[in-house]
Amino acid sequence: MAGATPYEPDSPTSRPTVLIADDDPGIIIAGRFLLEDEGFNILEARSPSEALRIAGQEQVDLALVDMNYNRNTTSGQEGLDLVASLRELDPDLPVVVMTAWGTIDLAIKAIKGGATDFVQKPWDNVRVLQQIRSHSTAGRMLRRNRLLEQENELLRRQGAPEGFVCESAPMRRIMDIVEQVAPSRANILLLGENGTGKGVLARIIHDRSSVREGPYISVNMGGLPESLFESEMFGHVKGAFTDAKCDRAGRFELAKGGSIFLDEIGNMTLGQQSRLLRLLETGEYERVGSSRTLKADVRIIAATNADLHAAVQSGAFREDLFFRLNTVPIELPPLRERREDLIPLCRSFVDGFARKYGKKILGMAADAERAILDHPWPGNIRELSHAVERGVLMCRNQRLALDDLALRSQSELNARRLDEMSIEEVEKLLMRKALLRHEGNVTKAAEQLGMSRATFYRKLKQIEP
Ligand SMILES: Nc1ncnc2c1ncn2[C@@H]1O[C@H](COP(=O)(O)OP(=O)(O)OP(=O)(O)O)[C@@H](O)[C@H]1O
Ligand SMILES: [Mg+2]
Repeated sequence: MAGATPYEPDSPTSRPTVLIADDDPGIIIAGRFLLEDEGFNILEARSPSEALRIAGQEQVDLALVDMNYNRNTTSGQEGLDLVASLRELDPDLPVVVMTAWGTIDLAIKAIKGGATDFVQKPWDNVRVLQQIRSHSTAGRMLRRNRLLEQENELLRRQGAPEGFVCESAPMRRIMDIVEQVAPSRANILLLGENGTGKGVLARIIHDRSSVREGPYISVNMGGLPESLFESEMFGHVKGAFTDAKCDRAGRFELAKGGSIFLDEIGNMTLGQQSRLLRLLETGEYERVGSSRTLKADVRIIAATNADLHAAVQSGAFREDLFFRLNTVPIELPPLRERREDLIPLCRSFVDGFARKYGKKILGMAADAERAILDHPWPGNIRELSHAVERGVLMCRNQRLALDDLALRSQSELNARRLDEMSIEEVEKLLMRKALLRHEGNVTKAAEQLGMSRATFYRKLKQIEP
């Protein structure tokens, strides 16, 4: 399955993208000036039709749109139409409208028509930035969850665990445990470094459980902004808050009768932890704005790459929640501790990617296999799969050659002069070195570099093998 699903919902586009639509070039320049400095990527459109074309083609995280596009109109109708069309195109896309001072009525109309928020021109930089940051983060989170759901759907159709490699002794032990506990409804906590297969295993557990006919809902807890947490997880009723235009079921409700996969629970805030704990303790919850109590009828599988024991010690993770989730802990070993799986994984990836890219590749050259065995794989299976995917794309013979894989050795990386590298490259180099030095222990590597674990993980996912 892994080889056939090279689709990668985790790879973040490096910078959030904001589409600015305005016929006034001055506004576009001002927007660029403000947002580019803050790490946003800017796309620009001078008309509603251009804005729609771009939103349909590019990955946009937020649209900042003007209400009037012709010199002699002030009705805002063009803006209202654009908001409606953007909404239709992508219901998850946050749309912030720009209105002139004193046209609050129009702003309200736009919000009723589906805009997320409004900005009054001339704007206040600090406030606009804050609005754009918070809405674009929320938009990205919604999209990521949608992608994860699509991937889950794909897995469902493919039927796990075909293609799931578990030949090494540690993996066989894990599969024995899975066999034993999957059918029950016990909470399971999956632990392990990035890219070790927690997401795939969660799905396998669901497929072998007594609730396998029910839904499988996956939520990235690390990416849920505080403001959206409750309504995403528990749902809301119409009017519970400004954006609540209709009743909406939360993730727990959607997962009713099936499994919910709470991914990256190590990144939850303490506030989120206590809200989740209440549900776990009582099995009950309410939609935001409703007093009707609902029963949580779900099997819970949680995962994290954080060291939860240490987080409990330091007070960053509630001990009572940890015990609730940790009924059956399963620790996925890093690739360096399951070397017997390396070549079978490679072969399965080569087949999968060769099929995907329509190439005839019979296997790997011997020196390529040796190099794979010698590589440290700090990014685990995900890194391996990326390396093989690139190899398959580059391959011009029947066997994947060592060169195709482009495994950059540590000495090669070191050989480049620091003053020739960009800050991003230096950062990646330092992260790799720190990981190697600490034998893949992300917590220690992050500590050494003075980064938070969460930041380190986020950046790690952007590192190409
Ligand atoms: N045992 C396996 N056999 C084949 N492919 C696997 C196996 N385990 C994981 N993979 C593949 O490796 C990649 C990473 O797996 P997955 O996303 O499940 O890791 P993860 O532990 O959830 O990572 P993260 O902590 O970064 O979210 C995926 O493409 C997945 O299909
Ligand atoms: Mg995962």
